[in-house]
Amino acid sequence: MSDSAFSLREFTRQLPKAELHLHIEGTLEPDLIFKLAQRNHITLPYPDQASLHAAYQFTDLQSFLDLYYAGAGVLITEQDFFDMTWAYFLRAQADGIVHAEIMFDPQTHTARGVAMETVFAGLARAARQAKSELGISSYFILSFLRHLSEADAFATLEAALPLREQYADLWIAIGLDSSEKGNPPAKFEKIYARCRELEFRLVAHAGEEGPASYVRDALQLLKVERIDHGVRSQDDPALMQYLIDHAISLTVCPLSNIKLKVFDSLDEHNLKHLLDRGLNVCVNSDDPAYFGGYLLDNYMQTAQALNLQASDLRTLAANSLRSSFLPKAQQQAWLNKLENVPSND
Ligand code: ADE
Ligand code: ZN
Repeated sequence: MSDSAFSLREFTRQLPKAELHLHIEGTLEPDLIFKLAQRNHITLPYPDQASLHAAYQFTDLQSFLDLYYAGAGVLITEQDFFDMTWAYFLRAQADGIVHAEIMFDPQTHTARGVAMETVFAGLARAARQAKSELGISSYFILSFLRHLSEADAFATLEAALPLREQYADLWIAIGLDSSEKGNPPAKFEKIYARCRELEFRLVAHAGEEGPASYVRDALQLLKVERIDHGVRSQDDPALMQYLIDHAISLTVCPLSNIKLKVFDSLDEHNLKHLLDRGLNVCVNSDDPAYFGGYLLDNYMQTAQALNLQASDLRTLAANSLRSSFLPKAQQQAWLNKLENVPSND
């Protein structure tokens, strides 16, 4: 690694950063999958970690999701959910993340007989320990699986609501993920209206594989504040102008987009174009155990491919803080620290 590559990485590491698009089940590394499978007496269809890892050759979103849901099948106990989440926080600390907004997919677990309480308890114990021991704050985004019905989403919300008070410091938002094509935002209009009445913050995946119109519908029908991915917005100039005018945040995940073939290569990614047009974009890792890099790797590999400068990286990190659900005063405190990180240029 050259000196300048090293110093740009160190500069970026030192920038206070928020990670806003991270599926906690997507942080399950092969070694932890094997450890939990053994602990829970589950037989995996792979003889060892290397052969599981070798299967991470995705052709599209669905080919990834099939493996991702299978991997999540090793999570049974509160300790399993804790171990997965704590491992993420340790990596987050190493990358200079100061705040994380973490998506989780309860339907993946409750459908296997895992209690909603077990999921919440394991995630929350890790999040509270991360706050006290690592100084990393976090919120949870309970995400509905869009390949399932809206009725299933309502049942999931009903199962989770009794826990709201106990986890009020963490569970503040609702998301929508899984297979995008053929599952438009309109399918979830009623559940989003209900979650809005309940005063949850709202986000949704849109415009990853699905068309720009899904981004528009997520904003207009679901009334989300933030779009996860959203890179296909570029296909619709009027939508682009709307995103600029309203400073809508897009939580972009460059390495994910390459692994899932949304773009052919990182140097063809539109992040820099979106940034230069004045969109409120930030960088995130999505499912880092599957896509070959955590947050800092996403920043650095993208910087290399798109020739991002220190000023771009600072803007991306600032966007992540400003787009977070942290109270404005806390955002500002981190932004002040960010402005004081020295760069070479
Ligand atoms: N669930 C986990 N990762 C996802 C992604 N990139 N898109 C949609 N659903 C997901
Ligand atoms: Zn995602």
